[in-house]
Amino acid sequence: MRTLIKNGTVVTAIDTFAGDVLIEGDKIVALTAPGALESGFTADRIIDATGKLVMPGGIDAHTHLDMPFGGTTSSDDFETGTLAAAHGGTTTLVDFAIQQKGGSLRQAVDTWHEKAEGKTAIDYSFHTIVTDVNKGTLEEMGGLVNEGITSFKLFMAYPGVLYVDDGQIFRAMQRARDLGGLICMHAENGIALDVLIEQAILRGETAPKYHSLSRPQIAEAEGTHRALALAEMAGAPVYIVHLSAPRALDKVLEARDRGMPAYAETCPQYLFCSLDDLARDGFEGAKFVCTPPLRPKEYQADLWRGLKTNDLQVVSTDHCPFCMKGQKDLGRDSFAKIPNGMPGVETRLYLLWDGGVRTGRISMNRFVEITSTAPAKIFGLYPHKGTVAPGADADLLVWDPDKEHVLSVNTLHMRVDYSPFEGQVVRGAPTHVLSRGEVVIENGKYLSKKGRGKFVKRSTFSL
Ligand code: URP
Ligand code: ZN
Ligand code: ZN
Repeated sequence: MRTLIKNGTVVTAIDTFAGDVLIEGDKIVALTAPGALESGFTADRIIDATGKLVMPGGIDAHTHLDMPFGGTTSSDDFETGTLAAAHGGTTTLVDFAIQQKGGSLRQAVDTWHEKAEGKTAIDYSFHTIVTDVNKGTLEEMGGLVNEGITSFKLFMAYPGVLYVDDGQIFRAMQRARDLGGLICMHAENGIALDVLIEQAILRGETAPKYHSLSRPQIAEAEGTHRALALAEMAGAPVYIVHLSAPRALDKVLEARDRGMPAYAETCPQYLFCSLDDLARDGFEGAKFVCTPPLRPKEYQADLWRGLKTNDLQVVSTDHCPFCMKGQKDLGRDSFAKIPNGMPGVETRLYLLWDGGVRTGRISMNRFVEITSTAPAKIFGLYPHKGTVAPGADADLLVWDPDKEHVLSVNTLHMRVDYSPFEGQVVRGAPTHVLSRGEVVIENGKYLSKKGRGKFVKRSTFSL
């Protein structure tokens, strides 16, 4: 199968140029000047990208599909979640396989393979969440790296559930350093936060907004500082997940300025939603309960600055959807019982294009970098994924920079009964989404079949 995408403007993390993209089977085989192939050339499919951009498909390095959490299970599974991702222009996601207490990492990964196998619309990989760092799990990390599962998330938050202590974190970092693995850190001081949460509830502060008011940014800054210090002591790289607060960003910036291999992502909810949403009337705020929490609106400018200056390298979604009915409403009487997480796997590119590129906060190239190229490089997917180049997988978007799209529970495909952005009109959307050379989405229609996505083995950390 030979496909030619012609007359488009190719946008990578560094270049913007008029060019045609030739695909054979699942790979990009050539980039040419516009029309260079035309005389006597035949293709099975020609996509005319006049007036449109051709960019690498999105890579979402942080999703939670079909994950037991907060007394329930995230509402998208690998079928619905990857389909929604494809609609929104994401062609690879990296999901978190969670170790059950008392279980092994092997069991976690086997369970996640079972959840995903035969279901996905796009390619996928796994990190593991290590909830018990012991002799056995440290040993197992080596086997997983050999299987292409090269990153491991640890939690400083959620004592008694996901929390691991500093000794465990430090040992895991040393092991990751030796293996070429990468530790992803949920950096919030969960021990102190649990005290604040208990005290808030005793005062009768149970509405959703108290989720944020009982988790001050200093707890995230402290966790981030500690994660960076432990990584420095271990001589290991570290990746701070879902960074939400300026004072935490300061810690990353300072470590990077000292030359540390420190990386951090933020998420669209921290760039576009705020404490005001959590404080909406009635129980509406529950839609916006995620951890770290949404912060005062004024904090957003610092995150945008971090994205611009590369102190933040990635925007992932932390997609962890729960329906209002039957899930979020478990916490009607107390914010502490609201399952933590927001939907987002489908809306990341729409929001960042409309609210980032169109507003002049970031360039088109930076858009590609933070949504695709940087996560590909950090998580060992590059150069097979994350760029438009001969030899790379043909995971591509034909992107109409002006196409209007309404974000609504009625137009989006995520299996959740609300949208945090209900009714918002955005401009910029994919007309075609290609996954390994196959057009999977064309003008909003899914053209392929369930189970076509493949598990991708990732390389060790090499930046
Ligand atoms: O609220 C969130 N972020 N839910 C998912 C779990 C996590 O900490 O990433
Ligand atoms: Zn987390
Ligand atoms: Zn997460």
